[in-house]
Amino acid sequence: MKEKLILKANTKKPNFKNVELDDIEKIVSIEVNCHISPWTKKNFLDSINAGYTFQVLKDDHLIIGYYIASFAADECELLNITVKKNFQRQGFGTAIINHLIKNCLKRKTLNLFLEVRKSNKNAILLYEKEGFNEVGIRPNYYKALKGKEDAVLMAKSL
Ligand SMILES: CC(C)(COP(=O)(O)OP(=O)(O)OC[C@H]1O[C@@H](n2cnc3c(N)ncnc32)[C@H](O)[C@@H]1OP(=O)(O)O)[C@@H](O)C(=O)NCCC(=O)NCCS
Repeated sequence: MKEKLILKANTKKPNFKNVELDDIEKIVSIEVNCHISPWTKKNFLDSINAGYTFQVLKDDHLIIGYYIASFAADECELLNITVKKNFQRQGFGTAIINHLIKNCLKRKTLNLFLEVRKSNKNAILLYEKEGFNEVGIRPNYYKALKGKEDAVLMAKSL
């Protein structure tokens, strides 16, 4: 609640920045709050070292969300998209997908892929709204709170 007030009082628009090493601790704590199987600090550092696109949506120093994507030839895979709990359902997830799509168009990407837990209905709704279609299922792909859960493979042609 406090953070929503800070955001509204600030006249600057949140914008996307390349991740900085100083962001990582904050990102790890957002990640732990938002995911069933959160990425670790090492996963994030490995992503930086691998040269993945790692963009952070910030309002001044406040981290609202982030995404990580891997580009290869004319394909892109969205590996992580997260909006901090207090800022969810305010259009930031949509802003992140749109930023990623702009990035894809700049790089002449033809197909954008992602995987999502079958139970993650909110994320699936967001992806469908942004023009992704289901193209496959990976059975028992994720660890779940109990047992395993399918991944839905989604794609968007650009
Ligand atoms: C999925 C996630 C990125 C969406 O971000 P967000 O900022 O809340 O998304 P938006 O506000 O842009 O919502 C866009 C649409 O998604 C759907 N949606 C998102 N959250 C929803 C919710 N809690 N309940 C119902 N629909 C929801 C709605 O259709 C919404 O449009 P609407 O608000 O006009 O109805 C965010 O919930 C998140 O970080 N979740 C935890 C991490 C995660 O699951 N990442 C995806 C892994 S594949």
